Amino acid sequence: MTLWGGRFSTKLDEKAWMLNTSLPFDRRLAAQDVLGSIAWAGALLEAGILDAAEHAAICAGLQAIAAEFASGAFVFVETDEDIHTAVERRLGELAGPAAGKLHTGRSRNDQVATDFRLWLLETLPQVDQAIAGLQAALLAVARRNQTVLMPGYTHLQRAQPITLAHWLLSHFWALQRDRSRLADLRSRTAVLPLGCGALAGTAFPIDREALSAALGFDRPAENSLDAVSDRDFAAEFLFCAALTGQHLSRLSEAMVLFTTAEFGFFELSDAFSTGSSLMPQKKNPDLFELARGKAGTLLGLLTGLMATLKGLPSTYDKDLQEDKAPVFQATDTLLAILPVLAGALETMTIRADKMRAALDPGLLATDLADYLVRKGLPFREAHAAVGRAVRLAAQKGLPLDQLSLAEWQSLGPFEADVTRVFDPLEAVQRRSAAGGTAPEAVAQQIEQAQNLLQGEKS
Ligand code: ARG
Repeated sequence: MTLWGGRFSTKLDEKAWMLNTSLPFDRRLAAQDVLGSIAWAGALLEAGILDAAEHAAICAGLQAIAAEFASGAFVFVETDEDIHTAVERRLGELAGPAAGKLHTGRSRNDQVATDFRLWLLETLPQVDQAIAGLQAALLAVARRNQTVLMPGYTHLQRAQPITLAHWLLSHFWALQRDRSRLADLRSRTAVLPLGCGALAGTAFPIDREALSAALGFDRPAENSLDAVSDRDFAAEFLFCAALTGQHLSRLSEAMVLFTTAEFGFFELSDAFSTGSSLMPQKKNPDLFELARGKAGTLLGLLTGLMATLKGLPSTYDKDLQEDKAPVFQATDTLLAILPVLAGALETMTIRADKMRAALDPGLLATDLADYLVRKGLPFREAHAAVGRAVRLAAQKGLPLDQLSLAEWQSLGPFEADVTRVFDPLEAVQRRSAAGGTAPEAVAQQIEQAQNLLQGEKS
């Protein structure tokens, strides 16, 4: 039996039913639907719609339903159109006629928006913790590699020497922004639609402030029309997920590149790499490739929901039923990827020798210019003089540090101490201003990062 059969002469066509039903995905809201209904029953008791006995029967029935869901004993029947219908149908079986009063003053429109927000409020901390897990892995590996040097790249061309710890932490901070976005989203999610009815509000004396507090929301929604339309929280969550996906993709792309034989900076552990069915020698970074690929899927989930929302008239339209699947999928995707990336990073082998070998003397060209600046030359002139040195070395087929003193002196105010510039560790150490790659500055970053993970916001 549907909840709306009264005015219809036949039941819904079977194919139409299959299109209309949301049970295959909104059954994930079962626990939230029960919680919302218990709170609503409380509000109806306060409003004098339910007497104490009816309220007790309804709440006992809803508790029993929650237990059935938790144990897997709940049995859906063919006519359960969505999770709300299923819960109400079962409540009727368990609580008798009192169950028929539960939907007084309520609509599935305010109900579903409430359930979905409750679900997201419970999910946000889980996603946050999974991101924090990857941050912890990055931090742990950074801590162990504070003086390991590697080339830093721009345009994917070798640019300047950096420390591995600095590179790892660059990903930590992007993830920190992702977490702060999720934290910020909580306040816009914790606004209660319940008590707004189908669109115009509820005609019974419901204390929505009390209802909001009972369900752990910050406040009731201000406008009933807006409350049943508003899916900003879902779109924002999908944006957060998509942007986190971009950050995971960037990290993954680097991991794919740095684990190639050509780079060889990292070697993945066997537990986090895969083989080829044909080529016995292959060890592939599939898990990072999947993370990179799923970043595209996450972006698609966001654009899909945005396209659904665009052009909808105000209040509830059935199009809004399309909101849940992408949010569930994005959540599942992030919760699947994040711990795997953390495990892969924690267990990889770091080839400091390979990174060091990639530090050709050309990466110290900026430091050569800085050297001339310290001797009093304006930076633009210093840049040009070093540029001439780079060209000369290239013409002679020599690394930059192999020019003779006479050649250096022909190019600008270089002196015998120029050879000392070619120490990459010193180059890194010079970049000790806050946020720089010097081990000294990175140690500060590590402390800040550690404090954030421990929740001691400094
Ligand atoms: N299954 C529906 C959804 O997910 C519940 C709300 C139905 N409301 C309605 N007016 N048909 O959006």
